[in-house]
Amino acid sequence: MRTILIGPPGAGKGTQAKFICQQYGIPQISTGDMLRAHKAQGTKLGLEAAKFMNAGALVPDEVVIGMVEDRLTQPDAAKGFLFDGFPRTVAQAESLDATLARLGLKLDGVVLIEVADDLLVRRVCGRRTDRRSGQIYHLEYNPPPPDADLVLRDDDREETVRARLKAYHDQTAPLIPYYEQRGLLRRVDGVGEMDEVTKRVLTALGAS
Ligand code: AP5
Repeated sequence: MRTILIGPPGAGKGTQAKFICQQYGIPQISTGDMLRAHKAQGTKLGLEAAKFMNAGALVPDEVVIGMVEDRLTQPDAAKGFLFDGFPRTVAQAESLDATLARLGLKLDGVVLIEVADDLLVRRVCGRRTDRRSGQIYHLEYNPPPPDADLVLRDDDREETVRARLKAYHDQTAPLIPYYEQRGLLRRVDGVGEMDEVTKRVLTALGAS
């Protein structure tokens, strides 16, 4: 399975990606997680990316594209992959198409998780991640266990979330017609219980 999850910040891409990757035995390739790892390690790439991420803006295409090309050559990606948060611009999608064509690979489908903006802000502002396990929680919708070591992402404050939403509508939403025209887009309603949304995503991918 070679697939992409797209959707606005807080739509549930990271949450659903974990279930889908488990189901198909494929790696989750999250450019957000990769960039946060660079930030945490203080690499040159991470320091550069942090300026954009902390402002709620997208990291420049060439930085992300290079990082993804490297990741795709790792052995675990040979059996398939799920992109979470990539591509995010038409330029990134075109570059991915070219890379896949070079490798003789095709996408199986692109799942768009749809959620209204007001709900997204509540979801993102209430998100907490367990530093040790990487598990994603929500203070109200999916409360963490008492022993979790919780961390709030630097970009999960309301004004930054609103900037991220604007970046989504301006720069990422054009991917919807891009993949629709290629017959790859499947729309999934992202509102509802998490396991209900998982069933919708799996159905969209043809798994059940
Ligand atoms: P990234 O890490 O990709 O963040 P994002 O796309 O903004 O998405 P989020 O991680 O905020 O949300 P999600 O959809 O994964 O939702 P989640 O499952 O956590 O990117 C961060 C930044 O990195 C970008 O702003 C940009 O600067 C940079 N970047 C990354 N990729 C890039 C690229 N390709 N190009 C350029 N720049 C790039 O869920 C959210 C919350 O809701 C959680 O608390 C969860 O518990 C809860 N929740 C989930 N599902 C449900 C449900 N069904 N009901 C109730 N609550 C739910």
